[in-house]
Amino acid sequence: VRPLNIGIAGLGTVGAGTVRLLQDNAALITARAGRPIRIAAVSARDRARERGLNLSGIVWAHDPQDMIANCDVIVELIGGAEGPARDLVEAALAAGTPVVTANKALLALHGATLAAHGTPLAFEAAVAGGIPAIKTLREGLAANQVTRIAGILNGTCNYILTTMREEGRDFAAVLADAQALGYAEADPAFDIDGVDAAHKLAILAVLAFGHPVDFAAIPVEGIRRVSALDIAFATELGYRIKLLGLAACTPAGVQLRVHPAMVPAASLLAGVEGVFNAVLFEGDAAGPIFLQGRGAGAGPTASAVVADLIDLVRGRHLPIWGQAALTPARAVPLAEHVGAYFLRLMVTDQPGVLADVTSALRDHGISLASMLQHGRKPGEAVPIVLVTHECSDAAIAAALGVIAAQEAVLEAPTLIRIEP
Ligand code: NDP
Ligand code: HSE
Repeated sequence: VRPLNIGIAGLGTVGAGTVRLLQDNAALITARAGRPIRIAAVSARDRARERGLNLSGIVWAHDPQDMIANCDVIVELIGGAEGPARDLVEAALAAGTPVVTANKALLALHGATLAAHGTPLAFEAAVAGGIPAIKTLREGLAANQVTRIAGILNGTCNYILTTMREEGRDFAAVLADAQALGYAEADPAFDIDGVDAAHKLAILAVLAFGHPVDFAAIPVEGIRRVSALDIAFATELGYRIKLLGLAACTPAGVQLRVHPAMVPAASLLAGVEGVFNAVLFEGDAAGPIFLQGRGAGAGPTASAVVADLIDLVRGRHLPIWGQAALTPARAVPLAEHVGAYFLRLMVTDQPGVLADVTSALRDHGISLASMLQHGRKPGEAVPIVLVTHECSDAAIAAALGVIAAQEAVLEAPTLIRIEP
């Protein structure tokens, strides 16, 4: 039986994990694929680097594009929306060579252009690592109008938020751990500023709703400003803070947003801890579907890469976005979001401060659900926490503008959206 010859570009966390998985599980992968998947060639920047891999009998390509002519499938695990990864994927697809990739940045920014080649392009590993999120959406929920996605889509952020809460450690020290464990992207700003989660959310939203997404228009806020104090208040109020990717498709259009959010401590999303990822899909026929698993690291990501390879060997492939053409939809701005909000202010402890703050909320039609202040330090800085009933993002933003300008408000207010 002729093997499927593949070329793997990139031998970092995911590339090396993919080589190991193909070698360690060769017999069962062959049985499931129907023929062997053979690593014909590999490419990385530094040939001399010790990777702990057995690469004997495998051609080393100094230029990853040299693999296209001699391989049935190219596996792109270099990363980055531009540069060598994009050049390789474009060249392979243009040559009619199918591509498997874990590159969410490339898909989120250039997916439409790549799809236009009409060559198979598989990217299960690009979203939520080992969780078959794309397969679930594109195949399992193919008969549904999906109306909502809520996801914990970045393992680094979830690991940081979980560890900060459990161990009371600083953001910077916990981030360094996540980098050492191979969870964080080469540029960790992509993780902690929410960009990586937004890449994944954009991919899921296109698949779920069948509408194109303008990545640059997605409102994105990361976790740099989430403090130990806010984590403690969230716990006291019965919530956990998570970085969420949220997408909804309603008659008003499609809304995508990525930001820290408070979720009830008893909810499924709150129970997703450490580097684990989760996605919640709501289909009109199937109802809610919740998937949880490891979203980063060598093994889980390689698991998804190899599953795509097995699909390709078996001849199972669908249009990249699950349908031949996407239909445009209105992008609903964040200002139209309606929900409850957690506000934390650092204020001077003096008479009338709370009255001024609540007047600003009243003037913008915002009703309060609860309030917290611990202790008393006359004339000194104290935190006060306000939880609102449902109101619009536009209203809370306007009220915060007034509140932030008040003399007794000592630093920029913290606002965290509360999700049901
Ligand atoms: P790494 O930085 O660990 O590895 C990148 C690899 O690409 C390295 O082996 C590097 O070579 C190689 N490389 C860089 N430039 C070139 C080039 N010009 N030609 C050939 N090879 C090159 O990245 P990851 O493995 O973490 O990530 C790979 C992809 O997978 C990214 O798209 C990432 O977003 C995605 N991903 C990562 C996950 C993770 O948990 N890490 C999870 C899900 C997706 P050298 O080793 O010689 O420097
Ligand atoms: N840096 C990413 C994360 C890797 O932390 O989730 C998985 O895409």
